[in-house]
Amino acid sequence: MPDRVRIYEVGPRDGLQNEAQPIPLETKVGFIERLVDAGLREIEATSFVSPKAIPQLADADALLPRLPRHPGVTYPVLVPNERGMARAEAAGANALAVFTAATDAFTERNIGMTVDQSLAAFEPVLRRAAELGWWRRGYVSTAFGCPYTGAVDPHRAVGVATRLLELGLDEVCFGDTIGVGVPGQVRAMVDAATGAGIELNQVAFHFHDTRGTALANVVAGLEAGVRTFDSSTGGTGGCPYAPGAAGNLATEDLVYLLDASGFEHGVSLETVLEAARFIAAALGKPLGSKVGQAGGWDAATGAAIGRATFPVASAKR
Ligand code: COA
Ligand code: ZN
Repeated sequence: MPDRVRIYEVGPRDGLQNEAQPIPLETKVGFIERLVDAGLREIEATSFVSPKAIPQLADADALLPRLPRHPGVTYPVLVPNERGMARAEAAGANALAVFTAATDAFTERNIGMTVDQSLAAFEPVLRRAAELGWWRRGYVSTAFGCPYTGAVDPHRAVGVATRLLELGLDEVCFGDTIGVGVPGQVRAMVDAATGAGIELNQVAFHFHDTRGTALANVVAGLEAGVRTFDSSTGGTGGCPYAPGAAGNLATEDLVYLLDASGFEHGVSLETVLEAARFIAAALGKPLGSKVGQAGGWDAATGAAIGRATFPVASAKR
């Protein structure tokens, strides 16, 4: 059986949430349509959070009903509290992610709660989601380091993950919110998780490429047996409460690595590159990802594939 990896796309949510200029609803829908065309099957579409906290995603209620219904495609949404759950239900969601962190300092700035308070707030949300049969994920942000308190012990992050899983989750995702992690930490996190009785098929990793370590961390995760990784088409992204957290791991960089390493994932590099160029042009930014710039590589001919033939958005550079 081929070795299969799940690519969990976070571009429309994590990628766009920190963009200052309002992005039109049509652009968001067009971006997500292209991601579906590329073969992505789990696309975190938006957040039902306070519009004051994340103005860019204030159109979540209008966005979700506009997304293409496609067999096998789910659109998980971020939900911080019961208010967000009611909105997500009304908009027709069927998958969600709750989000806390390894450190109180970050959680307090991000969602105005301690880690303990956040878990208490998620309890009724996750109970309701279970009643409705929704797919449920929980994020542990700052699992590899916190912008306010520094180094994070992997056992601390895993302790939060365990408490999240006890509330009823399909998956827990460890986030390197500020992109400081290195492969040794990934191995330590997997060891701590399995040591605590967490199954590897319940674990996902969410890396930021802020310091160029994201793909190395993916390889460490793969070697340790993890098969679910988050990425953002175009490599956009960042959290307003994580200073310097620019740049999720780009989906095109991840797809290239997985293709060349023989993993199956169902995503077309060329179509992802089209989606990446679409969103970069819409944001008026050059495409920052490595594979976005160089294209893929055809082993039969040695030629680059999927490379832009014109300088996209160069006028605004
Ligand atoms: N959807 C819409 N509005 C919401 C909401 C939700 N899910 N939850 C709270 N609100 C509104 C309240 O109605 C209130 O509005 P008002 O000022 O007009 O009365 C306001 O937001 C504050 O509500 P409160 O319950 O006091 O929450 P808070 O100010 O402590 O904020 C969160 C808590 C969780 C709602 C807020 O911090 C948040 O949405 N954070 C999200 C951060 C995020 O998405 N970060 C990126 C992901 S890593
Ligand atoms: Zn992120």
